[in-house]
Order: sequence, then C-alpha cells, then structure tokens
Amino acid sequence: NKRITIAIDGPAGAGKSTIGKIIAQKINADYIDTGAMYRALTLKLIENNIDLNDTYSLLKELNNTSIDFRNGHIYLDKKIVDKQIRENIVSQNVSDVAKIKEVREELVKIQQNIASQKSVVMDGRDIGTVVLPNADFKFFVIASIHERAKRRFEDLVKAGEKNLTIEEVEDQISRRDKIDSTREKSPLTKSDDAYEIDTTNKSINESVDEILKIIEGR
Ligand code: C5P
Repeated sequence: NKRITIAIDGPAGAGKSTIGKIIAQKINADYIDTGAMYRALTLKLIENNIDLNDTYSLLKELNNTSIDFRNGHIYLDKKIVDKQIRENIVSQNVSDVAKIKEVREELVKIQQNIASQKSVVMDGRDIGTVVLPNADFKFFVIASIHERAKRRFEDLVKAGEKNLTIEEVEDQISRRDKIDSTREKSPLTKSDDAYEIDTTNKSINESVDEILKIIEGR
C-alpha cells in the first residue's frame, strides 16, 4: 500500500482541522496539525516570559524545546498541551512567533520528518508550498471572514470564553491573516496546483465530500 500525503492550507477558521481530521480517518492517514506546533512554542515563550521581540532569547528557548505531534496530541517538552494552546493569548501572539525564519526552519524539519514515515493529512499555512511541495493532493480551504469569525467565536464560547465579542474575534483573525500572508518567509498563499475549497455555505459533510471526490477520482 502506497503512502499518501495531503496538504491542507488556508486562513484561520476556514475549517481545515475539522475537515482534515475526517479525511485522515477516511483514508487511514495520520492527521498532523502544524499550527499546534507553532502554538506550543508560543505557549512556552509566554509561560517563560520571553519578550517576543527579543529574537536572541526566543531562539535560545527554541533550542531547549521539544515539540511533537503524535496520535492526535500536541506535545511540548513531553507534556500534552492540547487545551492550553487554544487559549486566546496564544492565538493573539502565535503569528509573531511564526513569522521568524529560524522558527519556521526548525518546525518544518520536524513536519517533513513526520510526513516521511507515514500517510498524512497535514494542516497549516505553507504545507503545499514549502513543507510538502510534492504532496499527492493539495487543498486551499477558504471561507468568508464573517463565517470564520463566527466559527471561532462559537469554539471559544464552548471553551468557556466569556469576555470576547464576535467583532473582536473577527478583528483578531483579520490581524493574524494579515501577518501570515504578508510575512517574508513562506507566507500563506495558494499554490498553483492546489484545489480551492470554499466552505462558506457548505456543511462539514459537503466540504469533506468535495475533497474525497477529488482524491478518489484520480
Ligand atoms: O492553524 P492555526 O490557526 O492553529 O495556526 C496558528 C498560527 O500558526 C497561524 O496563524 C500561523 O501564524 C502559524 N502557522 C504557520 N504555518 C503553519 C501553521 C500555522 O505559520 N504551517
């Protein structure tokens, strides 16, 4: 049985992780959330009071950090931090960490290593363009900013967040998208050979079916 690699990229809240997890299950691949890796590093930097503008200290910390994604869990220095990395303080700072060249090089290495060993559905911003340029299938998942803000807001409310309005969430997402798509090193862009999937007016099942049709149809 041949290994298969699928890249899913797109802005925050477009549905990449929800869809990616289901696709992975259907085709018997591992789902790898690369955003969780950038979030884990950001969590550690915040916890250790590292000034995110102090690149020297930040990179020193990176050297003493182990990050892994296994069995659907994100590991930071061997501890599972699935919940902590979703906190809003992490979301608000992660893009400033992810724009640093050395950070990307280090995490991309880990991601490529994971993908070289098994079938994967890998979710991120630069998977089709940089991490897995030879992926068997590439998808670029988008949705309107209103829809994405609404979904993120609902997630946050479910997680117990009470102090944020949907407008604030929309502002935060827009700001994050802007940093992600304008950074110098591997910005968020659709690669020419990626299929664009717009999830704005689709149910999860409809988006999943659209992708499965493409995968199975070749
Ligand atoms: O996917 P998620 O929204 O959790 O990603 C959090 C952040 O991590 C993104 O906004 C982006 O700054 C960064 N990221 C990245 N490259 C990836 C995945 C995530 O720069 N492959």
